[in-house]
Amino acid sequence: MANNLQDTVKLNNGIEIPWIGLGVFKVQDGEEVVSAVKAAIKNGYRSIDTAAVYGNEEGVGKAIGESLKENGLSREELFITSKVWNADQGYESTLAAYKNSLNKLGLDYLDLYLIHWPVKGKYKETWRALETIYNEKMVRSIGVSNFHVHHLEDLLQDSEIIPAIDQVEFHPRLAQKDLRKFCKDKGIQFEAWAPLMQGHLFDNAILKSIAEKHGKSIAQVIIRWDLQNGVVTIPKSIKEHRIIENSSVFDFNLTREDLEQIDSLNEDRRVGSDPDNFNF
Ligand SMILES: NC(=O)c1ccc[n+]([C@@H]2O[C@H](COP(=O)([O-])OP(=O)(O)OC[C@H]3O[C@@H](n4cnc5c(N)ncnc54)[C@H](OP(=O)(O)O)[C@@H]3O)[C@@H](O)[C@H]2O)c1
Repeated sequence: MANNLQDTVKLNNGIEIPWIGLGVFKVQDGEEVVSAVKAAIKNGYRSIDTAAVYGNEEGVGKAIGESLKENGLSREELFITSKVWNADQGYESTLAAYKNSLNKLGLDYLDLYLIHWPVKGKYKETWRALETIYNEKMVRSIGVSNFHVHHLEDLLQDSEIIPAIDQVEFHPRLAQKDLRKFCKDKGIQFEAWAPLMQGHLFDNAILKSIAEKHGKSIAQVIIRWDLQNGVVTIPKSIKEHRIIENSSVFDFNLTREDLEQIDSLNEDRRVGSDPDNFNF
């Protein structure tokens, strides 16, 4: 269980990922992403989650470079994730996409590279490319995103390396119980995207009452619920005070009753696409 923002969990290959990171989906390249990432690192975040399709890898890279200098950190203290976009899936094109992401970020390796979505007929070739990148020691760990149990089962049949992570939509309205159990059994770390349901939970009465009881915000309660469930989480904000708020979750504990009440909010409801039915 995490005790501070820099605490990590060991992935199935021994690499450690911080429990909390900053997400930068829909954050504009340039000043917006640079200031968000710099604010996060200055305030103790060590993990940043971007993707080629977010179009902000250059800004993320600029912020990383400046943050290392300004905070006296070394590259090894950060954990940087990016993802291969759907249009780039396939063996050779994934190898090229990885190089392209590194160039944009100005880095010579990533800590985690993910298959962004399980594109039918393509994701196994894409995984083979990730295995090559990993075996050639160009990336510290590889994983998937938006994979259901059946995608993972299919992938595992032909893969040499078990994904270190499955990053999927997860929040109190989408419990993902079967997937969480499957991942646990296989040693795949479960990671939440849209942990705050992209803002759709902030007027929920149950969350409000739990938050009031602990003198915390709803965002903090949800992020704490992630941690107490063993889920790595990457809430996004471009506002420094929220970036700080979202990481100030180590001074309270949700009780078993709190956890059960939050679990009871599940409606299997998504804000994003279903990985079995996406058209991008
Ligand atoms: N693998 C995938 O397919 C996938 C898909 C989606 C997202 N992701 C990753 O997961 C990360 C998180 O998901 P997300 O960005 O979709 O949604 P999210 O983190 O659930 O919610 C972000 C929204 O909540 C607001 N917010 C953040 N902290 C807040 C607080 N303390 N109080 C009130 N509002 C708050 C943000 O606004 P402000 O910015 O204005 O504060 C933003 O509108 C992404 O950024 C991305 O890195 C991955």
